[in-house]
Amino acid sequence: MKKEENITNEFFTDWKYAPAPESTDHIKLKKQYDLFINGKFVKPNSKKYFATINPATEEKLAEVAEANEKDVDLAVTSAKNAYDKVWKKMPVKERSKYIFRIARLMQERAREFAVIESMNGGKSIRESRDADIPLAANHFFYYAGWADKLDYAFPNKKPQSLGVAAQIIPWNFPLLMAAWKIAPALATGNTVVLKPAETTPLTALKLAELIRDSGLPDGVVNIITGFGKTGAAMVNHPKVNKVAFTGSTDVGKLIQKSIAGTNKKVTLELGGKAANIIFDDAPIDQAVEGIVNGIFFNQGHVCCAGSRLFVQENVADIVISKLKQRLETLIVGDPLDKNTDIGAINSKEQLNKINEYIKIGVDEGAEMYQSKCAIPSKGFFCRPTLFLHTSQSHRIVQEEIFGPVLAIQTFRTIEEVIEKANNIPYGLSAGVWTDKGSKIFNLTSKLRAGVVWANTYNKFDPASPFGGYKESGFGREGGLHGLMPYLSF
Ligand code: NAI
Ligand code: MG
Repeated sequence: MKKEENITNEFFTDWKYAPAPESTDHIKLKKQYDLFINGKFVKPNSKKYFATINPATEEKLAEVAEANEKDVDLAVTSAKNAYDKVWKKMPVKERSKYIFRIARLMQERAREFAVIESMNGGKSIRESRDADIPLAANHFFYYAGWADKLDYAFPNKKPQSLGVAAQIIPWNFPLLMAAWKIAPALATGNTVVLKPAETTPLTALKLAELIRDSGLPDGVVNIITGFGKTGAAMVNHPKVNKVAFTGSTDVGKLIQKSIAGTNKKVTLELGGKAANIIFDDAPIDQAVEGIVNGIFFNQGHVCCAGSRLFVQENVADIVISKLKQRLETLIVGDPLDKNTDIGAINSKEQLNKINEYIKIGVDEGAEMYQSKCAIPSKGFFCRPTLFLHTSQSHRIVQEEIFGPVLAIQTFRTIEEVIEKANNIPYGLSAGVWTDKGSKIFNLTSKLRAGVVWANTYNKFDPASPFGGYKESGFGREGGLHGLMPYLSF
């Protein structure tokens, strides 16, 4: 018995995978990217460009244009003209053909998109290849299917398109968020100006090339790059009819303020601090995998990440010991290596923010446990981190960290865990692990969270609506619900 234990320990510490990096030979990136306006790449009026880097190596990948107010005006005007003259008038069947074509082209170029997503964003190639890109293509397929069936989706309601949608997206799922925004907007007959986040513009610019190749009429989708100022100019443009934003709660609040008093429609998908709740009757090994997937997936750069763990007291020891063991097997490193579990943190700023929170956690008196894995000396990396013995008042429990950091608490009763899980400004998602269907139904009806996963975590499907309560925002994306914010009735 003793011998076997030794073998197990050696297995965990000494056994290594050989590197298996994905090839980048087929990737073609231009040195400089212009703005995609009215079906063409055009130079920015600002004459300014900024560098976009690979966060795993800190090497520059390309330069992208910074759109100023004039550029934003050109993009919005192009979207408005395309709406009035072409897209609004086009028979719905024709519209859906274009959306299907975008979906198919994305599938054909999936490998290229996956590699660029990992290079520019730092996420592991396993995730960009198996989650981000297929889900993005599926979103276009799904909404292409709705495009000619809106009258069936909303019978007797005469759904009408709105006009120009200004869409601003974050850096955690760059292509997927572009798909979540563009696909339903097009399916409902609107035209688009989209801005990717400043640290991850490349797959959106590749999408611009794909959209041009798809033959979509000029101006129906415009993709411009820049910082917060560019985003603000989009939100404030008078010809914009609808604003769709995913990002920080602070910027969400700013946007809501700046459109108050206009008749622009808005959806905001903001932060989160999800509770992942493990009951003593849960399948423990699966639950441990669910915890790992919930917080370490995509480096914890997930608004719905299971960043607060609640374990029922009588199984806390076993869950935490299995979790620590599992942590030691996670591979942190080169995002392009197929063995990597946790890639690079998206930017230096984000890494600083995460490290600051790790310090706050220690200062608040929580017990920190970090995996002992090696991390690359260059690039932005963070070891998976647990905080034990945390309490509701800790900042690491209340605030969004957006990194691979898990705050753990124990609980005794259902009432207690519901109270604690809801005692937070956010309400985007939650997870419940139990053998009992009745407990699942009891909790899902009482947790103030838009999405509740049962005995799984971070599962997405274009047919399922997604969105939050409280400071996590409002409006739903995905599913039939995701059509509504782009329509008037
Ligand atoms: P951010 O909210 O500043 O950026 C998101 C997008 O909004 C980017 O495209 C950015 O250029 C744009 N933007 C920034 N200021 C704007 C403004 N005034 N008007 C219009 N658009 C504007 O998020 P940031 O600074 O990158 O991340 C800060 C924190 O926000 C993260 O640490 C994380 O906690 C949270 N976050 C949440 C996300 C989510 O999915 N809910 C995604 C990204 C960040
Ligand atoms: Mg910001």
